[in-house]
Amino acid sequence: MSELETESVTNPPVATISSLAAHVGDTVTLRGWLYNMRQSGKLLFPIFRDGTGTIQGIVPKAAVSEEVFERVKSLTQESSIIVTGSVRADSRAPSGFELDVANLEIVHLVPADAPFPISHKEHGVEFLMEHRHLWMRTPRQSAILRIRATIMRAAQEYFDSNGFVRTDPPILTPAACEGTSTLFELDYFGDPAFLTQSGQLYVEATALALGKVYSFGPTFRAEKSKTRRHLTEFWMIEPEVAFMDLEGDMQLAEALLTHIVTRVLELHRADLKLIGRDIAKLEAVIAPASAVLPEGAGGFSPLNPPATDPGFSPGATAPRFPRLSYDEAHAMLDEAFKAGKLEAPHIYGDDLGSPDETYISNQFDRPVMVHRYPAASKAFYMQPDPADPTKALCVDVLAPEGYGEIIGGSQRVDSYDLLRARILEHHLPLDAFAWYLDLRKYGSVPHSGFGMGIERAVAWICGLDHVRETIPFPRTLNRIYP
Ligand code: 4AD
Ligand code: MG
Repeated sequence: MSELETESVTNPPVATISSLAAHVGDTVTLRGWLYNMRQSGKLLFPIFRDGTGTIQGIVPKAAVSEEVFERVKSLTQESSIIVTGSVRADSRAPSGFELDVANLEIVHLVPADAPFPISHKEHGVEFLMEHRHLWMRTPRQSAILRIRATIMRAAQEYFDSNGFVRTDPPILTPAACEGTSTLFELDYFGDPAFLTQSGQLYVEATALALGKVYSFGPTFRAEKSKTRRHLTEFWMIEPEVAFMDLEGDMQLAEALLTHIVTRVLELHRADLKLIGRDIAKLEAVIAPASAVLPEGAGGFSPLNPPATDPGFSPGATAPRFPRLSYDEAHAMLDEAFKAGKLEAPHIYGDDLGSPDETYISNQFDRPVMVHRYPAASKAFYMQPDPADPTKALCVDVLAPEGYGEIIGGSQRVDSYDLLRARILEHHLPLDAFAWYLDLRKYGSVPHSGFGMGIERAVAWICGLDHVRETIPFPRTLNRIYP
């Protein structure tokens, strides 16, 4: 960058497009890129973006020097610029503001004969995925990534402000947590090791050390499935609490989701509008009362969590999210099939299929918790229900509108003998789990937790039909580039 370029623009204060409400009538400097340009006779309408939003500039030939007019006119898509101008409120503008351009410097001009590959016409998904590093510059993709960041921050904020200690587990592990069929194996100095599928086993250890903990990081599944909900690398946030039962786990999941949606609505109305999300659907999720709940079922404000910690059998808080036992869910699906509303019957004992989850979630306007699945269809570490040991004390939270499972959790087996038997039944290597069994040898307590997949939550909250748009660089069965 030349001296002239920096100097000529450092005088008016540097602002971001998202902060222009505070600068109406002022002359400001914006630093960003040309997103698009329209010309109408002697008027240029460049649209600038800076990562926080987009704004249309107005450049009448008569209002600027010949040189500045020609410079703006020469801009190609995604050329980087530093522009000064005065901010004008305009209710017709999508951002609410326009910029009367006074001066513009080019930082880097994209050559006209080698243009930015993502033009304003439609592109196929494969092309866009191949250019993900550039695709993310488009307003819609940027908005999704901003919302993702808030979802991640809100999730951490919830735990950090409710007495949880963040304890991150290792990513390189000696054993499976969620079944051996989706492990990424690698060579660890001659021994096999795996990329972690979940931090759960490790946060169980830290929970017994610290009480209330969570982990937050990337997790890996060698999923051979090519669905719109599966990534091979995804981010999971996993709370784990000593002396908490399944009831407490469900309350915690509800409080977490309520807090996240509240924050997104607080901070991202413009982004949600930009991506075409039906905001009323999100508002319903945090509304105080639900038609599906019995009268008088109250709930607590997410920003004012219950006075008592979610602990073991708290029982004090009425649920706001609907809850169905697996048996109730099965009965609902059975009825729907008989009424011709489902193509295939749900087989009792099976996990819920994607159409089953969609049907169930469509009956409610907020996330629904399905609990107590048959133990045989679930992971080895889940505590059996004392009322019916064929069932596991577990919960899957299904997002509304058919977005499927966003949270999976359970109360954990706390008996040494039972856990040992389960490990053997599942043909897992006992020696790799010796440390995990230790947790049941020394002061074992009932404890519970869950994992929320960030990308699934982003897909739901943003209303996206595929998780590939929910993460900066998605990793899927067929793609590891860019
Ligand atoms: O239900 P899952 O497999 O549960 C566990 O891993 C537990 N160990 C978590 C715990 O109790 N601490 O995964 C939890 C969540 C799912 O509900 C889903 O949101 C997400 O992780 N998830 C995936 N997201 C994207 N792509 C995949 N392949 C995913 N697999 C699971
Ligand atoms: Mg699950």
